Amino acid sequence: MNVNELSYSLRPEVPVVTAELVDFQAAGIRLDLLRLDSVHPMISGNKWFKLKYALEAVLRSDFPRILSFGGAWSNHIHALAFAGWERGIETVAVIRGERPSRLSDTLLDAQRWGMSLEFVSREQYRNKYDEVFLQSLRARYGDFHILPEGGSGEWVVAGCREILTLCDAADYDLICCACGTGGTLAGLVAGKPEGLSILGVPVLKGGEFLYQDIRNLLSQAGVDDPGGWQLDLEGHEGGYAKITPALALSMRGFFEATGVELEPVYTGKAFLALQRRVRAGKLARGSRVLLIHTGGMQGLRGMQETLSKRLSQGRENS
Ligand SMILES: Cc1ncc(COP(=O)(O)O)c(C=O)c1O
Repeated sequence: MNVNELSYSLRPEVPVVTAELVDFQAAGIRLDLLRLDSVHPMISGNKWFKLKYALEAVLRSDFPRILSFGGAWSNHIHALAFAGWERGIETVAVIRGERPSRLSDTLLDAQRWGMSLEFVSREQYRNKYDEVFLQSLRARYGDFHILPEGGSGEWVVAGCREILTLCDAADYDLICCACGTGGTLAGLVAGKPEGLSILGVPVLKGGEFLYQDIRNLLSQAGVDDPGGWQLDLEGHEGGYAKITPALALSMRGFFEATGVELEPVYTGKAFLALQRRVRAGKLARGSRVLLIHTGGMQGLRGMQETLSKRLSQGRENS
C-alpha cells in the first residue's frame, strides 16, 4: 500500500460549527454545519466519499482507467482528475459542449492532472451511454471503468453512508443537503439513525425523478429504504446553476454571521431552502438541524461576476 492509499483510508477529521444566525435563533432552532468542504483541498466535500470505494475497486482491477462525464465547471470532474493523478489511475472525461477557445479553470486543472478531455455536442452528451459511442472511446483509450455523471455509481451509497459517522448524527432532528444526482442523499439515508429526518434540496428544476433514483441507488446497494426523508422541490431557484438575488443575499448573510463561504450551485441553495422553512415557521422550536457543506468551492471561480451582480440587485431590492 502506498502513502496516498493509506491517507485516503484514514477517517477524515471534519469540523462541525454552530451557525449563529439571527432568524434561526429567533425561531429557537440550532443550526450546525458539517464542513465536508474542508475534508481535502482538491477532493472536496461529498466527492471524497463518492469516489472513495470506486477508486479502491478500480485500483484492484486489471485496467486502472476511469471514464466519466460532466460540464465545464464540474466539481466531480475536478476531484476525479486529482484523485486519479494522485493514485496513478488514468482518467478520461466526456465534457458536455464543444471545446471552447479557452478552457474553464476547472478543466485546465483537470488537464494539468493528466485527464484526457473529450468534448462532445450536447446531443451526443445526452446519448453518452450509447454503446457505439463508448466503443469509439475504448478504441482510442483502451478499456475503462465507467463512473456515471456526478460520480453516483455502484459505490456511492457505501461511501456516502460514512458521512454521518463524522458527527453525532443522533443529536439532530433534521439533516439537510443539496442533491444533484441524489447519490449523497442516498448514502445519508442508508447511514441515518432511526428517528432522524433528512431533507434533500434538488438543485435542478423538476427534481421529482430523484425520489425514484434515490430508491434505485438504495436498492442497488442492498439497503431497505428506512423512510424519514423527503425532497424540497421548490429550492432550485429557477434551475441548475441559476443564481437569484435572494440566493446571493442569503449566502452573504451566512458568510457574515459564520465566516464560512458557501457556493450558489449546491450548499447555498440547501441553506436558503432551510432558511425559508425557518422563516415560514415550518420547523418546530427546539429543533436541532445539521446542514452538510458538500464543498464545490472550486466551481465558484466561474461564477464570481454573476454572484456579485445578483448580490447588488438583492441589496437594491431590499
Ligand atoms: C458541491 C456539490 N454538492 C452537492 C452535490 C450533489 O451531490 P449528488 O450528486 O450526490 O446529489 C454535488 C454534485 O455532485 C456537488 O458537486
